[in-house]
Amino acid sequence: MNAHLVAGSADAGAGPGAAHLDPESHALIAGRVVGRSLPAPFYVEQSWFERDVEQIFSTRWLFAAAEAEIPDPGDYVTINFGRRSVIITRDDGNVVRAHHNVCRHRGARLITAQRGSTGTIVCAYHSWTYDMDGRLMFADAQAPGFDKKCFSLRPVAVRTIAGLVFICLADDPPTDIDEVAGIVEPYLAPHHLATAKVAKQTDLLENGNWKLAMENNRECYHCDGHPELLNVFFPTWGYSDADAIPDRLRPVTDRYRAATAEMVDVWQRLGLLYVRIAQLDSRPTGFHIEREAMDLAGESFTLDGTAACTRPLSDDLPDRRLGRLSMHLQPNMWLHITSDHAVLFSVIPVAPDQTLVRTTWLVHADAVEGVDYRLDRLTGVWEITNNQDADLVALAHRGIADPAYRPGPYGPSEFQVEAFVNWYITTLRSNLGIAPPVSSMPEPV
Ligand code: FES
Ligand SMILES: [Fe+2]
Repeated sequence: MNAHLVAGSADAGAGPGAAHLDPESHALIAGRVVGRSLPAPFYVEQSWFERDVEQIFSTRWLFAAAEAEIPDPGDYVTINFGRRSVIITRDDGNVVRAHHNVCRHRGARLITAQRGSTGTIVCAYHSWTYDMDGRLMFADAQAPGFDKKCFSLRPVAVRTIAGLVFICLADDPPTDIDEVAGIVEPYLAPHHLATAKVAKQTDLLENGNWKLAMENNRECYHCDGHPELLNVFFPTWGYSDADAIPDRLRPVTDRYRAATAEMVDVWQRLGLLYVRIAQLDSRPTGFHIEREAMDLAGESFTLDGTAACTRPLSDDLPDRRLGRLSMHLQPNMWLHITSDHAVLFSVIPVAPDQTLVRTTWLVHADAVEGVDYRLDRLTGVWEITNNQDADLVALAHRGIADPAYRPGPYGPSEFQVEAFVNWYITTLRSNLGIAPPVSSMPEPV
């Protein structure tokens, strides 16, 4: 287990937020039962939502955007987590930067748009003006001796990995991001996400807690609810042990094994890394990455599995049948990359019972809509799947909010849900200085 987690878990002394923790919450975190869903307060109460924003989303690396969303100097996106807002920009030197979206004069929110392009950031209140590096350039009518250098925008830690932009709101971000980048970058880099373009982005507001959106994504036990996706996505995913696969999935399992054997030859010929690495709850920046075969044509997330974009995503990978590269990062990201496109998902908590799921489709920068791809075919399967998942998350939240709810058991194919919940609880314990009951600590996946 990583030193970050051990330090907090092994020491029963009070952590930075422990003094403000009520005894009931302390008991719920300390006494979480391994292998079962969380008690209702974690999902439904405002105080728990605020704790999640401060203890999870303000202390861990978060997926914020694709570099493709800010392709040119001056481009920016803003992203909000609770009361916090961050501006992500590309500066004149092509460097991706992140700053708190708060004016250094009297604190006004600087940018309210979700995206745009600008040469400078000008506060609407008294016109303090910052360059894209965050330096204060202009502040009218200040007293003699006023030093602009003392009032740059407050920086936010930012890290790009193979075209994906991650931020951390903490003053001391988890240092294992370098190690994680070293592992996942060789998987991602051949797909050239940094130079791709955004074909479409959607924001779906789900009526459920953010943890339910993440938990739902970590299992395919519910995949019968996704008939369109199941044309190409093998529902054997999530079973770590072949013996646990139910009999009704045997025909699919045979196809999965045959397709995997074929794809391993392709991946090896192309030098693509494919071996599964799962470190979902054994480090602060928990992640999972793997390359998997896909059903039918095996090329893309379409109804028949054929490519949705005639222009391959990467000039270095013209083969159509590559299966999918999939990655998951705690607490708020997953993605899939096929030969023709990438689809990225970020989870943004809005309220205890509201979560924004942002989906971004990337294609080759030179691919032309209407010529190389039809947008409805490119995005259709995941748009349908997202809506199906939103309905399931809403159903789960409604039932959990019912006083009759009691935490239930995870089955063998839900072991990655357990890994997410264990990562979440371990992070809270680490940050709040709460010792776990020794006997309840599962082995890291
Ligand atoms: S609050 Fe921004 S210039 Fe005054
Ligand atoms: Fe789903």
